[in-house]
Amino acid sequence: MPQPSQHHHPPLAVVVVVAAVLALLPPRSSADPYDEVCLSSLQQSLSLRNWTKSSFSAPCDGLISKLDGITCNNGRVYKLSLPGLSLSGAIPPELSNCTNLQSLDLSSNSLSGAIPPELSKLLNLAVLNLSANALTGPIPRELASCAYLNVIDLHGNQLSGPIPDELGLLVRLSTFDVSYNRLSGPVPVLLANRSSTAAGGAGGGAVAAGTTARFNASSFAGNKDLYGYPLAPMRGHGLSVLTIVGIGLGSGLLSLVLSFSAVCIWLRSTDRTATAPGEEGKISHVMPAY
Ligand SMILES: *[C@@H]1O[C@H](CO)[C@@H](O)[C@H](O)[C@H]1NC(C)=O
Ligand SMILES: *[C@@H]1O[C@H](CO)[C@@H](O)[C@H](O)[C@H]1NC(C)=O
Ligand SMILES: *[C@@H]1O[C@H](CO)[C@@H](O)[C@H](O)[C@H]1NC(C)=O
Ligand SMILES: *[C@@H]1O[C@H](CO)[C@@H](O)[C@H](O)[C@H]1NC(C)=O
Ligand SMILES: *[C@@H]1O[C@H](CO)[C@@H](O)[C@H](O)[C@H]1NC(C)=O
Repeated sequence: MPQPSQHHHPPLAVVVVVAAVLALLPPRSSADPYDEVCLSSLQQSLSLRNWTKSSFSAPCDGLISKLDGITCNNGRVYKLSLPGLSLSGAIPPELSNCTNLQSLDLSSNSLSGAIPPELSKLLNLAVLNLSANALTGPIPRELASCAYLNVIDLHGNQLSGPIPDELGLLVRLSTFDVSYNRLSGPVPVLLANRSSTAAGGAGGGAVAAGTTARFNASSFAGNKDLYGYPLAPMRGHGLSVLTIVGIGLGSGLLSLVLSFSAVCIWLRSTDRTATAPGEEGKISHVMPAY
């Protein structure tokens, strides 16, 4: 009769080999030149007083971080979380050297300047929270190459220009908030609606297409020149300009005509009063003819 309990334990040889391999792997606490460039430029740009320069060459000891606001994984900077610290300055493009970064939270500070398009080099980025700052300029369309992005929170800045259509292609996005900025143009269809195209499984061929709402109006609110579903349709920004021009031209023309005829009438009446008193009777006879 076989003994099932034997199968519950892996052979001792396998355990020994695995342990030996793990022991031989170098500990990942060595300096990373990319992280160092990233952290030192961040300190310079944002004046992070708490950060000691000596730690930049090796900010991580395995999982242990030596700097406030940094989370480490495998000896690399994995999370940067510095919300609500009254930080000012611009986000340095060199932040893109923290190539293992998965989460970047610089929200609720006083950051200014543009969002560097170089952030698109952070190919592992899943969370981008730059909300409640004073960032200006466009939303970089390059961010669409960060395929793992789950969260884009840019609300409460002064970003301008259109929302790049490409961001609608980020299939993992579960949170998208660009409310309260100065964005303009149409809401990208792929951010407003998700096309629920379901290919028929093994049978193949059969495709059921439809759309479901993706991000609702609260993601886009507070941008007075954004329009289209889920916001109101184009309020006719272009139209209202035409209308204003039309009204302006129309009223200008009207007042011109009115003042012209007023001048004519006045001239005519002064003509009459200027005529000799003796001829007054004649004129009063002519008057009804008008
Ligand atoms: C600096 O460290 C102090 C004390 O640990 C902390 O209260 C403060 O928030 C830190 N400031 C920054 C900018 O990290
Ligand atoms: C750091 O980032 C900048 C801007 O993206 C880039 O030009 C530079 O080559 C990077 N440095 C390293 C060491 O990769
Ligand atoms: C971004 O940060 C703000 C403030 O720090 C926070 O309230 C908000 O929930 C964050 N956004 C997301 C999507 O987690
Ligand atoms: C998005 O879906 C809604 C209903 O869910 C629909 O009313 C709207 O027309 C759709 N918009 C586009 C651009 O497909
Ligand atoms: C919009 O969607 C969010 C969740 O994504 C929800 O919390 C919020 O109540 C919705 N707002 C409106 C106006 O439907």
